[in-house]
Amino acid sequence: MTSGPKALAAFRRSLLAARPELDRQLPWSQTSDPWAILVSEFMLQQTQVSRVLPRYDAFLDTFPTASACAAVPLSRVLLLWQGLGFTRRAKNLHDSARLIHEKFDGRVPATLAELRELPGVGAYTAAAVASFAFGVEAAALDTNVGRVLARALANERLTTKVAEALADDVLDRDDPGQWNQLMIDLGAQFCRAAPRCDDCPVRRRCAWRQAGGEDPALRSAGVSTPQSTFAGSLRQQRGAVLRRLGAGPSTARALARVEGIDPDRLEGVLQDLQRDGLIERMARTFRLSEG
Ligand code: ADE
Repeated sequence: MTSGPKALAAFRRSLLAARPELDRQLPWSQTSDPWAILVSEFMLQQTQVSRVLPRYDAFLDTFPTASACAAVPLSRVLLLWQGLGFTRRAKNLHDSARLIHEKFDGRVPATLAELRELPGVGAYTAAAVASFAFGVEAAALDTNVGRVLARALANERLTTKVAEALADDVLDRDDPGQWNQLMIDLGAQFCRAAPRCDDCPVRRRCAWRQAGGEDPALRSAGVSTPQSTFAGSLRQQRGAVLRRLGAGPSTARALARVEGIDPDRLEGVLQDLQRDGLIERMARTFRLSEG
């Protein structure tokens, strides 16, 4: 059973009151610059805050606007992305910057529908950017928030539809951006996969904590499952090739001798990176894409 309006209101008050404790003063929550917010959300997809922090300022110093990013070849963006992993996001961000420059006059669009036109922007990222930067009343539902909803407000596994409806019901319409950030911060700091219930500032308003039982977040909608070992090792191989090419073009033969690169899988990895548009082949050498 999901919570009724009274329980939702009590949870809302409790979470808003916990703001001083939850607020990590993250740089992207101290700005209203839509481009800076969009960059942070691309970086934070699948990457922890601690790994994003050192790269975020450097990226924005180099590309303070979408148009500045749109003006350079992809290889420049890939170099600044190093260490963040999941490099397809860097290409999506670069492609998004070009679309923003060409179609939206260099300004990040403010509506959910227009944000969804940008490559790599799904429902979560559109809602996050629209609410943080423009105050749009849209609930951002990611893995962290999915756990909070399943545990605190439902104490049952949620389907995507129910999770979306619940996220929308509990959204604080007075300040949707602040609300989304608080839900994300609660999920990241207390309502984690391995939860820290004893210290949680909203434990008195948590349906699971009150009723007990099996963790309702397990296999709930939007709650991720671990990556397979194969996917993890492919990602590592891709990372190793991209790191080496970041230092300059290379032949396949030279790449095969680099520590951390498995020569038997190199051909497949190179094809994979070419297919994603991250690297290109020039005669016998490979290099980061200049596109
Ligand atoms: N993960 C995704 N978006 C985030 C944000 N705005 N703050 C912290 N972690 C996040």
